[in-house]
Amino acid sequence: MKILGSGHYVPKTIVSNDDLSKIVDTNDEWISSRTGISTRHISDGEGVSDIASKAAILAMEDANINATDIDMILLATMTPDSMLPNNASIIQKNIGAINATCFDLNAACSGFLFALNTANAYLSSGMCKNILVIGAETLSKIVDWSDRSSCVLFGDGAGAMVVTVDDTKAYYSVSGSDGSKGHVLTGGATLLKNMLVNKDETNIMTDDYYMHMDGQEVFKFAVTKVPECISAVLDKASLGADDIDYYILHQANVRIISSVAKRLGVSPDKLPVNLNKYGNTSAASIPILFDELRKNGTLKDAKRVVFSGFGGGLTWGASLVEL
Ligand code: ACO
Repeated sequence: MKILGSGHYVPKTIVSNDDLSKIVDTNDEWISSRTGISTRHISDGEGVSDIASKAAILAMEDANINATDIDMILLATMTPDSMLPNNASIIQKNIGAINATCFDLNAACSGFLFALNTANAYLSSGMCKNILVIGAETLSKIVDWSDRSSCVLFGDGAGAMVVTVDDTKAYYSVSGSDGSKGHVLTGGATLLKNMLVNKDETNIMTDDYYMHMDGQEVFKFAVTKVPECISAVLDKASLGADDIDYYILHQANVRIISSVAKRLGVSPDKLPVNLNKYGNTSAASIPILFDELRKNGTLKDAKRVVFSGFGGGLTWGASLVEL
């Protein structure tokens, strides 16, 4: 599998740590020192399918490919605009990819990695030739803006890649899930109610609609699991940590990223960071960072990168891609 092109889009509205200190009891010093985040972009009216379509168009331009040559659209998101239609189909309509089969996939912050694995499987089987893989989130709609322990962490955005069949480019991946720990990161719940059996209840939203997180448990899980799955993917490819040009990690917390660099024994320069600008954009964070590095020339001479992330489910994964 080869990455032909990439693109990203973030909504225009920027919310700073000082802005948040006006709505919850927090401050720039706490947020910056504990997370590395300074600002995040928040959607003002644009849905996931809108921002994903914009990232997709940029990725197709970068790949120099027509929308009609895309035969699959895979959207990783946990904040779709609707369940029906699936949002990949809305993107298809927006960008004119009339020959694409379209579906959404949810694995929280690991969603983009799982979508990339899915794309690789479709390409390897010969079922598809050119796939648009997108990670996009409007997390702002499930964040509890009165909960200072979580609202400071997240932002909205979209990143996309066009991938194609190329037998000369190896792709290795590992992934996993542990449903028994799902309770440490939850959100988006709606109740099983209807007017036939719950005549007084019309509102299907509950408190569980908003995101709840046991931050310390997620932190401990991430600093163990991410280096573990990166080592596993390196073993699969018979490569050492220094053979990788860049580790493009899910952008959740700068302390998690530094800890991974230490555990792998590589220079922190190999683990670029942009979460200071965007916060945690979940499934979008890896393709947004990849696109920024590609467009600013950082990846010009790079031969191999590893993507790795973790998230709700719990889920995790690492993918080694030859550029
Ligand atoms: N501003 C000021 N004080 C705060 C804030 C805030 N925004 N949030 C919490 N505090 C306070 C707490 O109330 C606590 O006060 P206390 O000591 O008086 O009780 C104190 O700060 C320390 O709180 P901790 O939770 O212990 O802080 P910690 O150092 O663990 O940092 C954080 C919290 C940043 C959430 C960290 O645990 C973390 O990054 N965890 C991982 C989160 C993550 O990666 N989530 C994304 C998952 S991916 C997905 O699928 C969505």
